[in-house]
Amino acid sequence: MQLIHSINEMRSLVRELRSRGTTIGFVPTMGYWHEGHLALMREAKNKTGFVVASIFVNPLQFGVGEDYEEYPRDLERDTALAEKSGVDAVFAPSVKEMYPQAYSTFVEVEKLTDKLCGKSRPGHFRGVTTVVTKLFNIVQPDIAFFGQKDAQQVIVLQKMVTDLNMNLKIEIVPTVREPDGLAMSSRNSYLSPEERKAALVLYHSLSAAKKMIDSGERNIEAIKEEMRLLINREPLARIDYVEILSVPDLEEPESLKGKTLIAVAVFIGRTRLIDNMVVEV
Ligand code: PAF
Repeated sequence: MQLIHSINEMRSLVRELRSRGTTIGFVPTMGYWHEGHLALMREAKNKTGFVVASIFVNPLQFGVGEDYEEYPRDLERDTALAEKSGVDAVFAPSVKEMYPQAYSTFVEVEKLTDKLCGKSRPGHFRGVTTVVTKLFNIVQPDIAFFGQKDAQQVIVLQKMVTDLNMNLKIEIVPTVREPDGLAMSSRNSYLSPEERKAALVLYHSLSAAKKMIDSGERNIEAIKEEMRLLINREPLARIDYVEILSVPDLEEPESLKGKTLIAVAVFIGRTRLIDNMVVEV
């Protein structure tokens, strides 16, 4: 496993791989890996000849007062996990390497980023699309792997790849959950034992919505109201949003039909967690 910090070094490895005709699988991450990340890496290993995982806590996608400084970082632990998960190279650039002084170019996907997390975290997706474009340009992957847990991110990135004719495929890997249903997230590490229990309301509210839809409920407001009631019963929880939107255009449907995203963002104490389920109605 190679650990690479410089863009030039990453580029020469990519040149060498390309000249040998090796396909490149890419897993962009912000590090502090959990099973969800490792599932992406295993999928990349199955589908491509050489797996690059990046670790970069991207300051551009954090707003003022968010957790950029506290975001968990442990490169040593991640690189040890990389060895075991079939990753061939870890690309871990510094902030200076990615955004040298006077950096001034940004990538923005419109409309899809006005809602859900884009609404609560203005500028977040501009940061994501900018850094992912830069990473794609550096790593030049054939396939990039992202988790369904970040449902809006995946939809936005797919749109970006299509609109900008980027020469790669995006693959979505299902959300990995703890045995009790909590979606894996690096931010779960912020939770106290009490908050960890409370965090289950995200999964419970999504499961309740899915159950209502499965048993024939088609009134979107009634489903959202049930979800809100359930979350509000948890004293440590504060709702950021509860949404039911069509996929992939993320519009509020007049009636429930086709591929539909049920998405929640909830503060548990000071930690903002997101989760979602996609149902075919
Ligand atoms: O999903 C993440 O961890 C980040 O948003 C990503 C895609 C690595 C960009 O910084």
